[in-house]
Amino acid sequence: MGTSDERVVAVIMVGGPTKGTRFRPLSLNIPKPLFPLAGQPMVHHPINACKRIPNLAHIYLIGFYEEREFALYVSSISNELRVPVRYLREDKPHGSAGGLYNFRDWIMEDNPSHIFVLNCDVCCSFPLPEMLYAHKQYGGIGTILVIKVSAETANQFGELVADPVTKELLHYTEKPETFVSDLINCGVYIFTPEIFTAIEGVSSQRANKANLRRLSSFEALQSATRSFPSEFVRLDQDILSPLAGKKQLYTYETKDFWQQIKTPGISLKCSELYLHQYRFTSPHLLTKGGDDTKSPHIVGDVYIHPSAKVHPTAKIGTNVSISANARIGPGVRLIGCIILDDVEIKENAVVINAIVGWKSSVGRWSRVQAVGDSNAKLGVTILGEAVTVEDEVVVVNCIVLPNKTLNVSVQEEIIL
Ligand code: GDD
Repeated sequence: MGTSDERVVAVIMVGGPTKGTRFRPLSLNIPKPLFPLAGQPMVHHPINACKRIPNLAHIYLIGFYEEREFALYVSSISNELRVPVRYLREDKPHGSAGGLYNFRDWIMEDNPSHIFVLNCDVCCSFPLPEMLYAHKQYGGIGTILVIKVSAETANQFGELVADPVTKELLHYTEKPETFVSDLINCGVYIFTPEIFTAIEGVSSQRANKANLRRLSSFEALQSATRSFPSEFVRLDQDILSPLAGKKQLYTYETKDFWQQIKTPGISLKCSELYLHQYRFTSPHLLTKGGDDTKSPHIVGDVYIHPSAKVHPTAKIGTNVSISANARIGPGVRLIGCIILDDVEIKENAVVINAIVGWKSSVGRWSRVQAVGDSNAKLGVTILGEAVTVEDEVVVVNCIVLPNKTLNVSVQEEIIL
C-alpha cells in the first residue's frame, strides 16, 4: 500500500484531568483514557488499531495528565507492539491543534509522510489503512473519518457537508445550533505534515487581528516575540472550518460502528461493541463456555482477566468484562456489566447493566442493576471505588460515589 521508505506516525489526543468530567465518578480514580472497555484501557483500542498501519514508526499520546499516570501502560504497550509509544505532556491545555503543534518537532522526528490524529474518547473500528489509501487517492492535506448519525443527535458533533462524488469537505461547522447535516466528524484524521503550516496560518491570522485591535505598539511587539502559536487552537472549529471548500480536506465515511465516549453509561455500550469486535480481531480474548461442571456458564461475548476467579456455578454474559483479581461467587448472575479490579460479588448476587468500581463488594442475594426508562433508553448503575453493598440489598438506577456502604435498598438516587 505504501512505499517502503514512507513512514507514518500516529498521535492520540488523550486530554487531561480538567476534561472528562462527565465521566465521574469513574474518572476520580483513573485517567479516563485508561478506563477499561472490554478489559483493555480505552486508549488501547486506537493504539491496537495502529498495528494495521503500514510503516508505522512511532505512536505519541499527547495530554496534560501527569506523566507517571501513563508510564506503566506506555512501557508495557511499547514492548507488546514493538513500536515506540511515547507520552508527551502539555504543561496546560493548548486545544487539540495547539497540542499537536506544540510537539511538532517530536512528531516530525521520523520524517513521516503522514500523521494520524485520533481522539482517544471515540469507540470505532478505526479503519486506518483504508483511510490512508483513500487519502492518497484524494491528494489533499487531510482526510477526516465521518459517519451518518440521526439528525436529532448530529448537533453534539462537528457537522459537515462533503461532495458526494469527490468526497471533498465543502463545509464544516462545530456543534451547530441549527441543523446542517447528519454527516459528522468522528474525531479520527490523517494529515500530511502540511497540517503544521495550516495551524501556523490560522494562528498568525488570529495574531494579526489581535494586534490590529491593540492600541499599544509595545504589546504588539511582545506578542510577536512570544512562542508561536501561543494560544488555544482547536483542530475542529479553528482549522477544519476555514480549510473547508479549498480542496485541502476530504472525507472517508465509515459504515461500521462509532460512538463517542463521554459518560459511564456509554462506556458500557462501548465495552459491548469492542467485545463483539473481538470475535473478528482477537477471539483469544473472549472466554469460551466449557461443557464441564468446572467452568462457569458463559453466554455471548465475555472477557475474564486470567487472574479473576469465577465460581463454576456462576452464569456470566452477555456483554460482561471482569478485570484483574475479581472474585465471582457461587450462583452469581452477571449481564451487561464491567466488573473492575479486586471486586467481590458474593453468592447468588445479580448484577445487570452496571459498572462495579475497584475493590467494591456486592453482598449475598443482593441485586445491583439498571432498567430502561420510559423512552426505552438503557440506564446504568455505577458503584464507585470501594463501595460495599451489604447482603440482600437492592440497588436500582443509582450512582454511588466511592467509599459508601449501602445497607438498605435504594432506587433512582445519586449517593454522595
Ligand atoms: N492533548 C490535548 N490537549 N488533548 C485535548 C485537548 C488539549 O488541550 N483538548 C481536547 N483534547 C482531546 C480530548 O481528550 C479528546 O480526545 C479530543 O481531543 C477532542 O476533545 P474535545 O475538544 O473536547 O472535543 P469533543 O470531543 O467535544 O468533540 C470533538 O470530537 C468529536 C468526535 O468525538 C470534535 O472534533 C467534534 O467535531 C467531533 O464530532
